[in-house]
Amino acid sequence: MHYVPQSLPLDQVLLGDCRQVLPSLPAESVDMVLTDPPYGVAYQSRDGRSLAGDRTLEWLKPAFAEVYRVMKPNSIAVSYYGWTKVDEFMAAWRGAGFRIAGHLTFPKRYASSSGLVRYQHEQAYLLAKGSPRPPEHLIGDVIEWQYSGNALHPTQKPTSVLTPLIESFCPYGGTVLDPFAGSGSTLVAARLTGRHGIGIEVEAKMQQTANARLQRMRSRMLENLGFAEPAAYAQAA
Ligand SMILES: C[S@@+](CC[C@H](N)C(=O)[O-])C[C@H]1O[C@@H](n2cnc3c(N)ncnc32)[C@H](O)[C@@H]1O
Repeated sequence: MHYVPQSLPLDQVLLGDCRQVLPSLPAESVDMVLTDPPYGVAYQSRDGRSLAGDRTLEWLKPAFAEVYRVMKPNSIAVSYYGWTKVDEFMAAWRGAGFRIAGHLTFPKRYASSSGLVRYQHEQAYLLAKGSPRPPEHLIGDVIEWQYSGNALHPTQKPTSVLTPLIESFCPYGGTVLDPFAGSGSTLVAARLTGRHGIGIEVEAKMQQTANARLQRMRSRMLENLGFAEPAAYAQAA
């Protein structure tokens, strides 16, 4: 089994600004980072929901400097980004020490919005700390998008696009960090693939939503294995 430091707060989303929370994690302690930060575009969903930290990108450089510090040597971060702010994202990633190791696109069957073209894909960069070895089974850099429904978060990522990335770049039993966790999709994908997750989320309501989602998943998994949680025993008694 993969070595996981005892001190890590596994399989939960911590509350706070990742610039303040990340320094509490040990250096070189996580196997992979998979994150979907705000794109700096003041996004508003059709039903009027918005994101914290989406008006300015002043958090970008300090957050990715800390992300780099907590990653193990020779590991991978995957970060989604918005194409209109690619210069700022690139400067923050390179400034932190990352080497650009690949680019991923996620084609959608529908358009999220439009300008001179219909916007029909999401995108992410593969960022290397050091020189990670290629995975045993290579995945393609085009991964089909599935609409998540956005029930828990205005920009909720479908777990189906996250699981192949985790399987490729995090060893079984290892730890994936998401410092912009939202509704906890990365942590759910980590548990689905036999990895651990650590999340950080600045909005208290969203952090509760994410932890409740993880708790529901734990209960379902235990139930499927034929176990009930102690609280369920107490209620039944
Ligand atoms: C694009 S959303 C992530 C959505 C997530 N992938 C999901 O599937 O639910 C980015 C999240 O980062 C949070 N956020 C913004 N600034 C932050 C910061 N400095 N530290 C931690 N979280 C932050 C926002 O509240 C938002 O929920």
